[in-house]
Amino acid sequence: MDENRTILEYHERSKHQLRRYAPGPGYLDWANQPDPFRTYAGAPRVTLPLAADALRTRFAEVRAGRLPRAAPLRHDTIGVLFELSLAISAWKSFRGTSWALRCNPSSGNLHPTEGYLVTGDLPGLEGGIYHYVSRDHALERRARWDGPVPPTAHGIVVGIASIYWREAWKYGMRAFRYCQHDCGHAIAAVSYAAASLGWQTRMLDAASDAETAAVLGLDRDADYRSVEREEPDCLLWVGPGDPPEIDALVAAARTAGWAGSANQLSAEHVQWPDIDLAHATTPKPRTQPISPASEAVPFELATPGLDLAAATIFRQRRSAVDFDGVTSIPSDAFYTMLEPLLPRAATPPWNAWPWPARVHLGLFVHRIAGLEPGLYMFLRETSALEPLQRAMRPEWLWRKVGPAHLPLYLLLPHDTRDTAKVICCHQDIAADSCFALGMLASFGGIEQSPWHYPRLYWECGIIGQLLYLEAEAAGIRATGIGCFFDDEMHRLLGLEDRQWQSLYHLAAGGAVDDPRLTTLPAYGPHAPR
Ligand SMILES: Cc1cc2nc3c(=O)[nH]c(=O)nc-3n(C[C@H](O)[C@H](O)[C@H](O)COP(=O)(O)O)c2cc1C
Repeated sequence: MDENRTILEYHERSKHQLRRYAPGPGYLDWANQPDPFRTYAGAPRVTLPLAADALRTRFAEVRAGRLPRAAPLRHDTIGVLFELSLAISAWKSFRGTSWALRCNPSSGNLHPTEGYLVTGDLPGLEGGIYHYVSRDHALERRARWDGPVPPTAHGIVVGIASIYWREAWKYGMRAFRYCQHDCGHAIAAVSYAAASLGWQTRMLDAASDAETAAVLGLDRDADYRSVEREEPDCLLWVGPGDPPEIDALVAAARTAGWAGSANQLSAEHVQWPDIDLAHATTPKPRTQPISPASEAVPFELATPGLDLAAATIFRQRRSAVDFDGVTSIPSDAFYTMLEPLLPRAATPPWNAWPWPARVHLGLFVHRIAGLEPGLYMFLRETSALEPLQRAMRPEWLWRKVGPAHLPLYLLLPHDTRDTAKVICCHQDIAADSCFALGMLASFGGIEQSPWHYPRLYWECGIIGQLLYLEAEAAGIRATGIGCFFDDEMHRLLGLEDRQWQSLYHLAAGGAVDDPRLTTLPAYGPHAPR
């Protein structure tokens, strides 16, 4: 790799422009559509029970960080953790074709994210390293502890990895970004599901990518002969106890007895050298662990409109394919959705996020009763106010609106529906929603620490998952938007250099369902296979 090439080159080249989309395959090669389910032939299987219906935790409690008493770590509670985070939530069917939806959304429903469990012996579950198969709600035991057992007495590790090819098959060069968004969604989904069981989630942020790969067995070349590799993302410590040392996890994985070889997802592949470049220029080194901050609760969160079980909200989350263009929500409901975006150290999903907030929202308000339509900024960290004011158009009003504790500013009262739609690749959902938004990330220092680049997308994905769930609790629906013209958003705001970049968009409003689709259960005899 050319040492002088940087991740910023990938970033520029993967931008959609009004006059040219980022390079993609140009057509869908259905014969080589990647298998959405990875399996490891030869790895012993453990079926997980479906027990989430019995969970009594309310979503309103979880989102406010009021966790129930920690559930015991057991085979069945591990099942609930996966059932409410990475499992299938329903199947959709149209004219004989069926596809699975999961608790975590994914760009193009391609699901590049793979989940892992690393655990000591638990009641009903032998210790080891397991791969999660969402299709079957089962664990495949990739490794058993032959040498030292990692010190995971009061918790487990959930590992996350990505198969870039699954997204690249459809989206080409921009796929690296989408994989990172999806990883962020998955991190948040795990954090929320764990919280509904009374467990905290902490990212093992010190781990290098190489160490994460070692713990999950992703560096075992012999197990991936000529099939699609999984790239390491992160390790999440989940449970009531303190996290183990990375070195202990790596040592246990190195001496474990491994089983299984990965399945092939597509017969043929198209190479995307820019994705290889993005991956190769952003490896995370070992870093000093960040101590979790103590929870500062500056204000009590307002209660969402619907008081639903956490399990219901997690499993009913869907992307709206269309919005009705008429639904309006009260401003109080909007503020209730924004409040949990302000980070709190021991509250999901931010308990899983060790780094300071670097992503803020540029909002297109269309239909919020009591709030003028227009362009707004919502700051997740008030110290961003001054740099953003300096970076943006001097004519913006920056008029503080809404409750005192919410850093929400009106920039321009205006009907921004057409603008939002154009910026989001002409998608109607950006105009017909109650509001749409772009997530503005600070790129400061990215060239010195390029491993933050994928993590900025993770932060966006976490914000996206939070807003998806908040939308459900407010009685509306959201859709993540990965297709947008990056520099049109920057031009609108007046951002001229690369200090602030829009990395992910989203819209929320009154959803219109597609009546042609049939919904089938996630599992059991009536679920398609
Ligand atoms: C990162 C990301 C980008 C997405 N981009 C778009 C988009 O540009 N337009 C759109 O209509 N849906 C978009 N979606 C929604 C996906 O199509 C949707 O999540 C997927 O089809 C699965 O459906 P579900 O969310 O209902 O489970 C995006 C989702 C994610 C997570």
